[in-house]
Amino acid sequence: MRKILQAENLEKVYRVGSVDVPALRGVSLDVEEGEFVAIMGPSGCGKSTMLHLLGGLLTPTSGRIIIDDEDLTAASDARRTDIRRRKIGFVFQRFNLFPTLTAEGNLRLAERIHAGGDGKKDDPERRREILGLLKLEDKMHHKPLELSGGEQQRVALARALVTSPAIILADEPTGNLDTENSAIVLNMFQEMNYRLNQTIIMITHNPEAAAMCKRIIQMRDGQIIAPPHWFEGGELKPPGLHHNVSLGAKKLLLPPENLGQNPGAQEILKGAQFATSRPEVRVRGWREMVDGDGKVVAYEVDIE
Ligand SMILES: Nc1ncnc2c1ncn2[C@@H]1O[C@H](COP(=O)(O)OP(=O)(O)OP(=O)(O)O)[C@@H](O)[C@H]1O
Ligand SMILES: [Mg+2]
Repeated sequence: MRKILQAENLEKVYRVGSVDVPALRGVSLDVEEGEFVAIMGPSGCGKSTMLHLLGGLLTPTSGRIIIDDEDLTAASDARRTDIRRRKIGFVFQRFNLFPTLTAEGNLRLAERIHAGGDGKKDDPERRREILGLLKLEDKMHHKPLELSGGEQQRVALARALVTSPAIILADEPTGNLDTENSAIVLNMFQEMNYRLNQTIIMITHNPEAAAMCKRIIQMRDGQIIAPPHWFEGGELKPPGLHHNVSLGAKKLLLPPENLGQNPGAQEILKGAQFATSRPEVRVRGWREMVDGDGKVVAYEVDIE
């Protein structure tokens, strides 16, 4: 697998008046092509800051970012904008569609911006293909206000995909959607990851959304924290070595209520046995999933 993103020791300090606000305190992250990564963590821990740095919307105070073999941090402003246009697709919580343009028009605009300068690029076939993949064929000529929230977000995803970016960065893409539309949009993300091998990094507060991802990264206070528990062959391994949830492994979400404070291997195993009604179930690892306030809302358990 090819590394598509490398971030080394990123720090970001915002300056507000005469006060320094450290938002990121040394974050390193590698992402391989085709990964679908969730970023979770309490409000204010630096998730959006990190995503904006990775996408070249902000520059780090220090550290280095390599995207698809190009050094974003060494680039001039103009070059960084260029890399961003060619390599990154953003999806935001607010769909940020142009209200006067149709779904197709929004995609066309994205193509033009992507092409830069003369804006000659025009690929109706690609637009139709992407809108088709997202099941929006019959909504092509609708304007955003004539679409449901879920459909608008699917158009936003289509817009991000139409330029074939190396990475899609999504900041709480289901944050403005109801449960049903969230599920539809998340399924589409998952499908794009699966069918197009699209690399995606997604911030979410929703443990079920995170559970769809192949890897979950937890942040606290401007840092990535290693998943607390991960073990192999019944032996507890140091955190950080085993944080890839293996593909195809079954995942289980256990509510924290019945597990007690800081559950250990025994409690998690009992919870998994209870939830699956399988006394022989094996637990390969687990991690806490926290909401915006840092409260544990579920334990994600990898079982076989
Ligand atoms: N433009 C800015 N100027 C000054 N401080 C900022 C700015 N943007 C963010 N911050 C601060 O940096 C820290 C990290 O903010 P960030 O938006 O990255 O958090 P987040 O994890 O995305 O939170 P949320 O889940 O609420 O979206 C916070 O303390 C925030 O107040
Ligand atoms: Mg945020």
